[in-house]
Amino acid sequence: MTDLPQIARELMTHGKGILAADESTKSADARLTSYGIIPSEEKRREFRDLFLSTPNVEEYLTGVIMYEETLDQKASSGKLFPAHLESKGIIPGIKVDMGTEPMPGSPKELITGGLLGLEERLAAFKAKYHTGFTKWRAVVRIDGTKLPTTSSILENAKRLAQYAYVVQEAGMVPIVEPEVLYEGTHSILRSKEVLQQTLTLVIETMKDKNVDLSAVIVKTSMALSGKETGRIDSPEEVAEHTLDALMAAVPSEVPGIVFLSGGQGNDQATDNLAAISKRAKEINTPWPLTFSYSRALQDEALTEWKGESSNVDSARAVFISRLQKVVAALS
Ligand code: G3H
Repeated sequence: MTDLPQIARELMTHGKGILAADESTKSADARLTSYGIIPSEEKRREFRDLFLSTPNVEEYLTGVIMYEETLDQKASSGKLFPAHLESKGIIPGIKVDMGTEPMPGSPKELITGGLLGLEERLAAFKAKYHTGFTKWRAVVRIDGTKLPTTSSILENAKRLAQYAYVVQEAGMVPIVEPEVLYEGTHSILRSKEVLQQTLTLVIETMKDKNVDLSAVIVKTSMALSGKETGRIDSPEEVAEHTLDALMAAVPSEVPGIVFLSGGQGNDQATDNLAAISKRAKEINTPWPLTFSYSRALQDEALTEWKGESSNVDSARAVFISRLQKVVAALS
């Protein structure tokens, strides 16, 4: 029997975090294009290799979340990426949701799919690639007091809970990610309210579905004023409101909470994490906290890389420098 709480504890090792390198093919292509890089299957492999073959990356990362295509691609070591990560002592993870679609009856809201055939896919990922954990992302949009609707949160919560149950049955740790979007014109208080409501419903639904909360990692947004307000909240405000929501919603048996960066600037995501970590120690939160960023860890290195092999070393140096700053934010 796999010791799932033990995997969760390893993922939450103090002073390290999780890299989200799980952009879908479409998102990876859009990301590469935005840096002036012409996308192709080989460029996406090089994009993954840039980060996953960075020397000493294991000093900063406990796990990497991958997208399906990456599982069958090779790192420059010649090993498949999952085996390459395992050889560095990093736990390979896999995003298993199949993306979002508009919610019937409320088309501005999104519902995440991917439950059909999930058991079979999970069994294959674990047997072939030794994946230790998985991720499913749901999206919650704020629009004044109109959105989110309770029914969209509930529908996403039901699917997250069903996903988490099936993943645990398959012997892996589910990362449960209901992302409350940064995009919008809402206040930080509204963001906190929605974060708390969403996380409360997700936790309650998981309890109803007999998900073992001691083997679930919660991945969450921070409470932030909507991006379109142009307001950059102070890290102390972000820490206070984020932790108020988390303390109200997430029970102590959850072994860890990880943050997404959600479109924040690199320094903003780092400074906010530092303030959250500091306050978490002051108020003695029952769960450890760390990062599971994609953009805030990768952006600067992609700017440096430009898709050129001659820039790989300098881009990796930039990546390590950001990892050092983010890890320092945890201390
Ligand atoms: O699903 C979102 C990713 O896991 C985190 O990405 O840090 O760019 O928001 P982000």
